Amino acid sequence: MKLKTEHLKHPIVIAIDGTSASGKSTNSKLVAKALGYVYVDTGAMYRTLAWYCLKKNVDVNDAKAVANACRRWKTDLCCVEKNHLRVVHLLVDGYFPEKEIRTPETAAAVSHVAAIPKVRDWMKKKQRECIQFGNLVMEGRDIGTNVFPETDYKFYLDATLAERSARRAADGVNENLAARDQRDSQRASAPLMIALGAKVINNSDMTSEQTSGLLLAEIRARLPQAK
Ligand code: DC
Repeated sequence: MKLKTEHLKHPIVIAIDGTSASGKSTNSKLVAKALGYVYVDTGAMYRTLAWYCLKKNVDVNDAKAVANACRRWKTDLCCVEKNHLRVVHLLVDGYFPEKEIRTPETAAAVSHVAAIPKVRDWMKKKQRECIQFGNLVMEGRDIGTNVFPETDYKFYLDATLAERSARRAADGVNENLAARDQRDSQRASAPLMIALGAKVINNSDMTSEQTSGLLLAEIRARLPQAK
């Protein structure tokens, strides 16, 4: 019998897109841990640029200035192990701004930065470079539609606005999710939308164990070695 080894040569990318607070991070990490894949948080990469612009006094509403900053900043991708999970970090001048990218100021600036086409081109290139680290679970808004449209593993997570707002509030974050969703889905460049062929999971009434269990069952059924 001929073994299917294609996936060993071409890393597998699990694309997990969806609205804010739909459980992308929690479930992507659970799936990556279970499969031994590398976890990539693309939102963190956009947040890193927003933080960098704020730090350098670049006006985030000035698309040209942000695109220039993005063209020039000194970054590196690296893969680190954290709590038994391999994670990709985007370093700026050798530094990973872990806490700084989660402040309300960065959260308010990020969707402006993420709407700029030149920034999205730069991010797509960097995100595709992550396959140098192996099989990936990549979460974001445009992974299945734009960054890795060729992948066979596309998922779209969602939950009701009330449930998502309650989740953010439980994390101590008071954020206007409806406004952020609107900005993410209405921008001209790679807006948030359901990729063709993506499996949609509305997890309003589900625990993360149930959501990640469903994701894993779907993925395992499609993996080459399972056939
Ligand atoms: O997932 P998050 O909240 O950390 O994302 C931060 C912002 O970045 C959010 O407004 C959407 C944007 N984003 C994006 O446009 N494309 C991605 N692939 C990931 C995030």
